[in-house]
Amino acid sequence: TAGSAGAVLLSQCSRGQTQTPSKPPIRGSTFYPSRNGVLELDLEARQSQIQLGGQRIEVLAYNNQIPGPRLEAKPGDRVRIRLQNNLSNPTNLHYHGLHIPPTDPADNVFLRVGRGEQVTYEFSIPPDHWGGLAYYHPHLHGYVADQVLGGLGGIFVVRGALDHIPEIQAAEEIFLFLKDFIVEPHQSMMGRMAGREGDLVTVNGQVNPAFSIPAGGLARLRLVNASNARFYRLSLEKHPFYLIATDGYPLSVPVELSELLLSPGERAEVLIQGTQELGQYRLLNLPYRRGRMGMMGRGRMGGMRGDRDSVAPQVLATLTYSGQVQPQSFPQRLIAVEALPDPTRVRQFVLNHGMAPGQGMVFLMNGKPFDPQRIDTEVVLNTIEDWEITNTGVMDHPFHLHTNPFQVIARNGQPTPYPAWKDTVLVPTGETVRIRIPFKDYPGKTVYHCHILDHEELGMMGTIEMR
Ligand code: C2O
Ligand code: CU
Repeated sequence: TAGSAGAVLLSQCSRGQTQTPSKPPIRGSTFYPSRNGVLELDLEARQSQIQLGGQRIEVLAYNNQIPGPRLEAKPGDRVRIRLQNNLSNPTNLHYHGLHIPPTDPADNVFLRVGRGEQVTYEFSIPPDHWGGLAYYHPHLHGYVADQVLGGLGGIFVVRGALDHIPEIQAAEEIFLFLKDFIVEPHQSMMGRMAGREGDLVTVNGQVNPAFSIPAGGLARLRLVNASNARFYRLSLEKHPFYLIATDGYPLSVPVELSELLLSPGERAEVLIQGTQELGQYRLLNLPYRRGRMGMMGRGRMGGMRGDRDSVAPQVLATLTYSGQVQPQSFPQRLIAVEALPDPTRVRQFVLNHGMAPGQGMVFLMNGKPFDPQRIDTEVVLNTIEDWEITNTGVMDHPFHLHTNPFQVIARNGQPTPYPAWKDTVLVPTGETVRIRIPFKDYPGKTVYHCHILDHEELGMMGTIEMR
């Protein structure tokens, strides 16, 4: 409505006068912080033409922006999002990393918002929310892959524990929303099986954007893989990354990494320390082989870009260290992440693909393609379960569970080196990952699935009922 749009505009304009914005918005996308404990906005999904990397491209966008508006709230805040669907297909919204009910009007992924319809999502950020980098995108089965591939998605920040650590507060905060776009549409079933990747890789809707950081200072990179199927194997040339959060969840101490792999749906936060010398560093996407797709058919397949062994690194962004050298100290400790007690139950999950009569290739969760009517997994609230997820297929699959975050306990029987929370974990081909999940707070039905959204659409999704 005109009234609420006016209110939104007003809050945006007055932001500069009444309070200093904590952080600047991503270029090209508006910033909606909560005010007086309420985050309220209109989100219109529609087809748009947007200038991306010097080309006008057909996209699907929220409020005509790529990425969608950046939302920001605090623990305990009330959130009200009026979603107006002006797409040519039904849609809805899902939120990673918020821990809100899987039911209406919060995070019900079975809700169908028809063309031309409006719904209001309304929920509270849990008062004990850890604070972190959440992510919203559409989630209606049958449409989710096309809509995310088309460009729908955005960042949702909850300010919390990490934001109160002085060294992190002083760091330059940089959001990096990683999203590829198809410039020249081509239809290919093989592309869907591999998981479709776009030919134009963008960061915040731009090709190789530049960021500047005070020399010697710290930068906090907050990364989201918002792509349908593309993986990002990130490196900052010879610079190490210090991982401080996995998906939206803080670690207890920074962990040094020389590179960082982000599969679709995953987020990460890293600190980087500016060198004492002025200079430029490129954020690279190194080649990564996410499966042996050639095994699925004969020869090279059209539209398939998964086999990227021989591809040169892509430059995603350029960081410039400039100004006076201002060495900044590094945080030694972050927040306490406790190891979870032993589970009351262990379940097995198998990720694979197969042939279905009349359908061709289908992707399977425990031998079955998705059926929204069926309940695949029933869990009891206030219990802890271990899920052992084995990928017997020929492609990597990022496994995503809704509502309750989990800790990764082991990979191929080897315990993980430190406790960390996640909501999406990569299960590479031939490997087994064990996750530990405390089921808490919310009864209801939701899903777990492969976050290569084409695989979700082709069946690799199961339902879970919590009671
Ligand atoms: Cu980001 Cu169920 O998805
Ligand atoms: Cu998959």
